[in-house]
Amino acid sequence: MIEFKGVSKTYNGKVKALDNMNFSVGDGELVGFIGPNGSGKTTTIKLLCGVLKPDKGSIIVNGFDVIKEPLKAKASIGYIADNPDVFLRLKGVEFLNFIGDVYQTPADERKKTVGDLAERFELTGALDSQILSYSHGMRQKLMVIAALMHKPKVWILDEPMTGLDPKSSFELKALMKEHTKAGNSVFFSTHVLEVAEKLCDKVVIIKKGHKLYDGTLAELEKRNKDKNLEDIFLELTKKK
Ligand SMILES: Nc1ncnc2c1ncn2[C@@H]1O[C@H](COP(=O)(O)OP(=O)(O)OP(=O)(O)O)[C@@H](O)[C@H]1O
Ligand SMILES: [Mg+2]
Repeated sequence: MIEFKGVSKTYNGKVKALDNMNFSVGDGELVGFIGPNGSGKTTTIKLLCGVLKPDKGSIIVNGFDVIKEPLKAKASIGYIADNPDVFLRLKGVEFLNFIGDVYQTPADERKKTVGDLAERFELTGALDSQILSYSHGMRQKLMVIAALMHKPKVWILDEPMTGLDPKSSFELKALMKEHTKAGNSVFFSTHVLEVAEKLCDKVVIIKKGHKLYDGTLAELEKRNKDKNLEDIFLELTKKK
């Protein structure tokens, strides 16, 4: 469960990235987050994960206030950032062990989850190599494994499919569906509207830090005389 209530965020006292944003993601919901470049998606996601602090408003993840109980909130989040170029000098396995230590994942559980996910994403053979030698897609897959290793209830993913090959993208979408079917929450940003259309129960659409729509795709399409999501998105976000 995610509750994002009345949240505003300004950078350097000047750039208003988010203005009184509200939305929620219930248990068992898979919600897509869409909006033009620079509209505030990554800012929202960093606020949800406690990477940034809001100027005002409250953010609750899995019942924990992200500001007041950051460690409990963070322990229940699986976060994939928008950039997988981290800890490049470590080997894949060293990075996963480091993240496993941070989240205090027991060794046997860690081994099983990493083994299963690395097989699923065809990364097993690369785990003993330095991340520096990985392609962009391989780094992205490593971030997926690292984020899911501690079995978080809430997944918060910033453009997670970027750079993934079709098989890996298929596997990640399947995992997202399985996770929500089991009663958990997934919130992810994407620019690929077909993915949002096929995968999501609900979408949140933003532009310039303001919410334009929050609800089911069925309702959105009904309101827009059965147009597809691309047409609706272009219409909603066009320059005024
Ligand atoms: N660290 C920062 N310092 C100053 N301004 C920032 C910073 N990060 C983001 N911004 C500004 O905040 C606004 C929202 O940016 P954000 O990265 O959240 O957008 P986004 O929706 O994730 O875009 P994209 O689709 O390109 O990933 C933009 O105007 C951006 O220039
Ligand atoms: Mg972004």
